[in-house]
Amino acid sequence: MKNVIIYSSKHGFTEKCAEMLKEGLRDGSNLINLKDNPIIDLNDYQVIILGSSVYAGNIQKDMKEFINNNLKVLLEKNTGLFTCNMHKREEAEDQLKKVFPLELIERSFVVTFFGGGFDFSKMNFIEKQIVKKIVKVTENVENIEQENIKMMQEKINALV
Ligand SMILES: Cc1cc2nc3c(=O)[nH]c(=O)nc-3n(C[C@H](O)[C@H](O)[C@H](O)COP(=O)(O)O)c2cc1C
Repeated sequence: MKNVIIYSSKHGFTEKCAEMLKEGLRDGSNLINLKDNPIIDLNDYQVIILGSSVYAGNIQKDMKEFINNNLKVLLEKNTGLFTCNMHKREEAEDQLKKVFPLELIERSFVVTFFGGGFDFSKMNFIEKQIVKKIVKVTENVENIEQENIKMMQEKINALV
């Protein structure tokens, strides 16, 4: 069975999580950065994992557009979804329901969040101000939910 992990990452955390996810997959997986490859033929794949970081309460624009443009196919496949974010666990659960289309969530075999991090060296001036003033974080931090990555790996491995 052919798998693909398609991700959209701004500062590298979603990319890192996508790579960690791939490492635990029995049959391996193609890894596609949506920013480099915005057009993907999903008919080639049986298991499709979509991952995006969340900024200002939303997944990234390119991922949103990709989902909208491919929704019909995604609803017919074994689709899994994850976000990278810095909300607390309970809020991250709620956030998941808001950032992906409801019908896709309902049809997906796994929907979860992988945590993330703040890397000030990758942020622009405005992003730094937002994180310092609103989130009140002033240093680099990384908080990746290894358990959720493992859970998704197990669900994918059970399918293939
Ligand atoms: C300016 C800014 C806004 C953010 N907004 C949110 C948000 O609304 N909700 C959230 O859970 N995390 C938010 N985050 C945290 C990011 O989702 C987190 O840093 C994530 O790991 C980034 O992943 P990436 O490097 O793959 O883009 C924000 C981060 C920045 C820098």
